[in-house]
Amino acid sequence: MSETTTRSLYDVGDLPPLGTVPRQMYASVIRPERYGRPEDAFRTEVVDVPEVPPGFVLVAVMAAGINYNNVWAALGHPVDVVAARGRQGDTTGFHIGGSEASGIVWKVGDGVKSVSVGEHVVLSGCRWDEDDPEVRLGPDPMLASSQRVWGYELNWGSFAQFTLVAEFQCHPKPRRYTWEEASCFMLSGATAYRQLTGWHPNTVQPGDPVLVWGGSGGLGSMAIQLVTQLGGRAIAVVSSADRAEHCKRLGAVGVIDRTRFGHWGREPSADSPERAAWTEGVRAFGRAIWEVLGERASPKIVFEHPGGDTLPTSLYVCAPGGMVVVCGATSGYAADVDLRILWMRQKRLQGSHFANLRQCRAVTTLADMGQLDPVLGRTYAFEEIGLAHQHMRDGAQAAGNLAALVGAREPGSTGMCD
Ligand SMILES: NC(=O)c1ccc[n+]([C@@H]2O[C@H](COP(=O)([O-])OP(=O)(O)OC[C@H]3O[C@@H](n4cnc5c(N)ncnc54)[C@H](OP(=O)(O)O)[C@@H]3O)[C@@H](O)[C@H]2O)c1
Repeated sequence: MSETTTRSLYDVGDLPPLGTVPRQMYASVIRPERYGRPEDAFRTEVVDVPEVPPGFVLVAVMAAGINYNNVWAALGHPVDVVAARGRQGDTTGFHIGGSEASGIVWKVGDGVKSVSVGEHVVLSGCRWDEDDPEVRLGPDPMLASSQRVWGYELNWGSFAQFTLVAEFQCHPKPRRYTWEEASCFMLSGATAYRQLTGWHPNTVQPGDPVLVWGGSGGLGSMAIQLVTQLGGRAIAVVSSADRAEHCKRLGAVGVIDRTRFGHWGREPSADSPERAAWTEGVRAFGRAIWEVLGERASPKIVFEHPGGDTLPTSLYVCAPGGMVVVCGATSGYAADVDLRILWMRQKRLQGSHFANLRQCRAVTTLADMGQLDPVLGRTYAFEEIGLAHQHMRDGAQAAGNLAALVGAREPGSTGMCD
């Protein structure tokens, strides 16, 4: 049904007729020779539009969400994503990042049944081989060894006019969201949803205190809302007064400013001179949680992602039988674990990574019902995708989630005849 247009390239924000696929497209590209500061690593280039294999879908990207994973991609560290894919046979030599988006289905490959050309969709950020025995027989495709993050481990992400995804990555766009709102809630929302509901029996129950690190960030903004909807009490951690206000607006029962404490990072050994100060710091942090709650209660779930700086504190303040659930390591991926706290208090340290399709759909449904604020902090232009990642790297980003316009000319359009 799709045809190749005679015009080979369209400006960003200037779509060809529905279903016609130009030969080339603009993309915000990372190349190994530019690894380093995100602002320099991304550059707009013209590349060929990828072929659409069976079971895959080409989507015209209207807006793309910005996430920390492409800060790592731009740095070329801790994984050189281009080299890693090169070892798997990818010959492009470049990386097109972007692990979430809103857009319009533009071409479908053979065998695609669940979406058709013209549908408005949002895209989820993980892919796996559907014929992988671990997917077919396993409890959760996110646990299969064929699982990869699209737009990070996999190429042809959303920072381009067209992106290539598996059919199952397409979900209905929440109708009341603008293109840019729809592009930026899925990755943080579904990741938070899995962390808070996916690890039985440690799921948020009514009244449960939940400590949310980085409460004003992308993940944190989603976690506060989900904890509140599930009947829990979110205690947000932030580093400034305006970020504290942001968290309270989203429903946090209280906020702790982490700059009041100084015991972050490696946990000093029991016999070191620094141990007493560390112990005093972590206990004071625990008391700050009690002050917020108005009672001597500890978090049943600690929502972790800063990693090295905060993990010792997370384990310490977590309630006996509670869970520290970690999906990232912004401040460093080597962290101390005092095993005595883990076994004596029978706490759970749980890794969690993005979300399966059921969890993605749950968050998309909440969004469509108007029960989840996408918390869009700032919308960047296509040419500013590197700048957006630089702001994230520098900790200078707006509170909430971030998006960049691609096919959408102006912010504010829902795509519904407006
Ligand atoms: N595995 C997955 O599927 C998955 C999915 C999404 C994100 N992640 C990872 O999760 C992390 C957070 O993502 P995000 O989108 O929420 O990023 P974000 O929007 O940049 O927010 C992170 C927040 O963490 C706080 N923070 C930064 N350094 C900290 C430190 N040293 N100690 C305590 N808090 C610190 C900051 O808030 P304050 O300065 O106000 O405290 C910041 O706003 C990233 O590393 C990302 O790669 C993983």
